[in-house]
Amino acid sequence: MSNIKELDLGPLHDYYEFEHAVSDFKASVIEGLSSPQKKLSSKYFYDVRGSQLFDKITELPEYYLSRTETDLLRIYADEFAELIGEGSSLIEFGSGSSTKVRILLNALQSPTAYVPIDISREYLIQSAKELAVSYPDLPVVPICADYTRPIKLPFIPNENSRAGFFPGSTIGNFTYQDAVKFLRTVANDLGSGNGLLIGVDLKKDVKILRAAYNDAAGVTAEFNLNILRHINRALGVDMDPNEFTHDALWNHEKGRIEMHLVSKCNQTVYFENLEFEFIEGESIHTENSHKYTIEGFQSLAALAGWEACKYWKDSNNLYSIHYLRVV
Ligand code: AVJ
Repeated sequence: MSNIKELDLGPLHDYYEFEHAVSDFKASVIEGLSSPQKKLSSKYFYDVRGSQLFDKITELPEYYLSRTETDLLRIYADEFAELIGEGSSLIEFGSGSSTKVRILLNALQSPTAYVPIDISREYLIQSAKELAVSYPDLPVVPICADYTRPIKLPFIPNENSRAGFFPGSTIGNFTYQDAVKFLRTVANDLGSGNGLLIGVDLKKDVKILRAAYNDAAGVTAEFNLNILRHINRALGVDMDPNEFTHDALWNHEKGRIEMHLVSKCNQTVYFENLEFEFIEGESIHTENSHKYTIEGFQSLAALAGWEACKYWKDSNNLYSIHYLRVV
């Protein structure tokens, strides 16, 4: 972990950066494009433009997830604050624009710090600064890291407890096994007795799900294609976004929406001394979005060492928020 002092922190208390955030990128892209079903990790969607496109997705009429979660956060904010308790630090895994957390911060009793963790450095710092300006008495300590890796959290003076915040149903991006592994890592990061507030999208009518990932305005398609632009720029690859199309399908057996980028033609992608052949119609798998039942998610959490304390869902059974505690 390095502490980058030459950065202008402005209103921020401190800033930490983990080396692995950059070094794994290239190896992961090469491995993904070399596998029989080509794939790219969905964590690479989020450069500055990707983060902005995702923010646009959250406002789409078809994308019910963010809206429903925000409603739930507003309605039950005081209850969450009660469960989290006074004098707690709030650690957000994948903080993005740090918008939803404001609802929680407004309800919490004397929080000791806000620690946003994100892989997208510029976006993280920008969002953290904006937040720090809105909450001048709250120490804000951003960490640039891949939050799926173990993270040694900074020392926060006078902290009674720590609470994790993992909204957006990002847990759905992990396969079942990886979700268990990730939740174990978070349990270790936070320590026993501490809590996690986590958003989980629910299984539902497939028509609603398909529409949420194939919006009429084409923003999700842009978001999906942007992963190519991000990788091209960051690593010097030459994938042409015009030669791929967006596809999102429901995988019934696995209980997930899958996003793919489908090659429009036979083509070769060159990267350093490597060549990756595509045949027309072949896809790059870019994202999984698993959907759960309440019980299904609670048993997953139990496998990872969490006790399910309470959950909340909207009246249309679209979305759920769970409060878990490390056993
Ligand atoms: C932020 C990962 C929860 O899977 O629904 C939105 C990302 N992908 N539209 C999701 C996303 C396509 C989103 N998560």
